[in-house]
Amino acid sequence: MNINNKKSLHEIACGIDFGTSNTTVAIANNLDTSIILVPVEDHHVTIPSTIFFQSDSPSALFGRQALNAYIGREEGRFMRSFKRVLGTSLMKEGTTISGRQTQFEAIIGPFIAHVKNKAELLADKDINAVVAGRPVHFVDGNDKADLAAESQLKSIFSEAGFKEISFQYEPIAAAFAHELAMGDKERLAVVMDIGGGTSDFTIMRLSGRYIQKLDRKDDILANAGIRIGGNDFDRTLSLACFMPLLGMGSLWGAKGLNFPLTPFFDLAELSKIQCMYTRKYKRDLNALIKQSTNKTLTQRLQFVVEEELGHSLMASVEDSKINLSSNEQTLADLSFIETGLQSECSRNQFEDSLYANLASIIDTINACVLQAGITADAIGLVILTGGGTAIPVIQKLTRQLFPEAEIADGNRLSSVGFGLACDARRYYLNSH
Ligand SMILES: Nc1ncnc2c1ncn2[C@@H]1O[C@H](COP(=O)(O)OP(=O)(O)OP(=O)(O)O)[C@@H](O)[C@H]1O
Ligand SMILES: [Mg+2]
Repeated sequence: MNINNKKSLHEIACGIDFGTSNTTVAIANNLDTSIILVPVEDHHVTIPSTIFFQSDSPSALFGRQALNAYIGREEGRFMRSFKRVLGTSLMKEGTTISGRQTQFEAIIGPFIAHVKNKAELLADKDINAVVAGRPVHFVDGNDKADLAAESQLKSIFSEAGFKEISFQYEPIAAAFAHELAMGDKERLAVVMDIGGGTSDFTIMRLSGRYIQKLDRKDDILANAGIRIGGNDFDRTLSLACFMPLLGMGSLWGAKGLNFPLTPFFDLAELSKIQCMYTRKYKRDLNALIKQSTNKTLTQRLQFVVEEELGHSLMASVEDSKINLSSNEQTLADLSFIETGLQSECSRNQFEDSLYANLASIIDTINACVLQAGITADAIGLVILTGGGTAIPVIQKLTRQLFPEAEIADGNRLSSVGFGLACDARRYYLNSH
């Protein structure tokens, strides 16, 4: 990021980590050196990146409130993981909300404006300057789409009222947050940020001595990222342990073929769930189910789609995934689908389902090490951040990849937002 003469213009600035799953905001001001994480929803410093458009109201609900409205089966449209749409063709296509064609700018925009407003309420001031987090790649292997995603996000922040907008890679921000508590010794660190939508990595020289340093370009050895994250882990767990209960793998038609897989894959993919609720999709699915051999199972699938319970099912899957970080076995209550229905998942099943995703994540980390021109044993410190780094098999792989390194896991869900505000101070304020 270029440091220029914007510093004297601002008394206050913020960092916003707009995440696929959770969003945080932190503020820095010119009066003191503290960084404050903003309570963005009640006392919570994280807000789920969700929105609920109520059918009978022009205003929207955000975060846990949106989730509760959806789970409470209020009339309206629930959306999550909208960060994943940036840079994709869906940005142009938009989606239908309450019968009206709506662009994603009109979905992400109010969410960003909502968290900006929370920061301004706390600061009791307008905040015009922001450092926004971004993944290393919004979209894999497509530089044009990546640039488009950043520019779309920039317009959205601008529309929300920010006048100065800069971007920083999310793992670099997490490194800055960690650096605040470091001593003067220089460490070669890798940051591993495994979030809901992407896994991002940075290799960087860190030291408490560098906090005041304005230009960190020379300290950053490599960045790499891949569009795999917790949403993908939810998908593989859903396909392994939940979808078989809804008929995946059962037989279909007179010739004894397998029931087509598409509805199960759609139901396991957050961004596809809403597409299953059109009249045509429901009609086609009902026709498929007529020829199903095991109707006890496939009628559950029909019920979930008819009653639009896809996001509730994904919430159960996500809960199971999170439980498996601290338990070998977990039981999900699916009585909202059928009385007494449960899904039992083991950590082994989950880890097996992750195989392909983990292989891609390891390849990306190895590419990052290669790009840095070092070998893995030169890394002295691994900083883990992002919810996905709580998964035991990911921690085990980290120890295998970097056997010599100290492993630090700070505040998984808020270190990026905190670090973005450190950057905002460096960039916009005089008090660094
Ligand atoms: N204890 C846990 N075990 C496993 N996964 C977890 C745990 N806690 C949270 N997660 C998962 O971490 C993900 C959210 O992490 P995080 O808040 O870091 O993502 P994000 O910053 O919103 O996403 P991104 O940075 O990719 O845009 C979700 O998929 C969530 O289910
Ligand atoms: Mg994140």
